Amino acid sequence: MALSFKRNLDPVFFPRRLEVGLRPLGYGDREAVQRWLSDPYITQLTFVVTGPDSSPSIPFSAAASDNYLNMLISDQSRRTFAIEVNDRHVGNVGLKEYGTGNAYSEFFVEIGEAEYRGKGVGKAAIAALMDHALEVLGLSEVRLEVLEFNSVAIHVYEQLGFIKTHRTGWHYDRKGQYWQVWGMTLSKERWALAKNQPLLPANVMIKPILT
Ligand SMILES: CC(C)(COP(=O)(O)OP(=O)(O)OC[C@H]1O[C@@H](n2cnc3c(N)ncnc32)[C@H](O)[C@@H]1OP(=O)(O)O)[C@@H](O)C(=O)NCCC(=O)NCCS
Repeated sequence: MALSFKRNLDPVFFPRRLEVGLRPLGYGDREAVQRWLSDPYITQLTFVVTGPDSSPSIPFSAAASDNYLNMLISDQSRRTFAIEVNDRHVGNVGLKEYGTGNAYSEFFVEIGEAEYRGKGVGKAAIAALMDHALEVLGLSEVRLEVLEFNSVAIHVYEQLGFIKTHRTGWHYDRKGQYWQVWGMTLSKERWALAKNQPLLPANVMIKPILT
């Protein structure tokens, strides 16, 4: 009798091609932004709470989320992008304090759709933005703040060439514990080195950024 073998078609073993692109965030992205800002997983990792009385807007109401989206889009010192994977909007990434005469900018990132985390999408989106900031916009440095327990983000940032510089403050969590907030920076020189390393899974491609 002939032997028959089952093929394992689990996408973990046969990963599909993921094309990661950035396009400007728009008012049509309101529903996704509302959904992500009401997700405690996202807000607990992305917003610094300095003390017990300093988090009145977390989790975000729909109105607070709309105000935040308006600010991301209309603030002239920001450049905010939707992260798309195979044309699906899965997260946001952006620069702030840009065009203020400084040679540096700060950045933020979130992959809002949980099933797209841990697949190389965040790293690809940040890489696309770093290339834009440091090679196209001509900034000399990009800065960020990250909570000390956000080990996934810190791992990704260090792979992309960011280094921890100093503690910028403290973060207070819901259980009453204080955590360090780290400042990290990426210089143009460190990015030039990092971008020549193999950073992404073989199935993840970066599309040219749309501005
Ligand atoms: C942080 C974030 C943007 C990273 O994007 P992502 O698509 O999930 O990350 P990637 O798949 O590109 O890379 C994840 C890396 O972390 C590693 N990792 C996974 N779990 C980890 C852990 N517990 N500790 C350290 N590293 C870990 C993975 O192995 C992978 O590294 P590798 O490529 O060397 O194997 C995303 O997870 C996210 O949006 N998180 C919630 C919001 C957030 O934290 N934003 C940043 C605030 S500063």
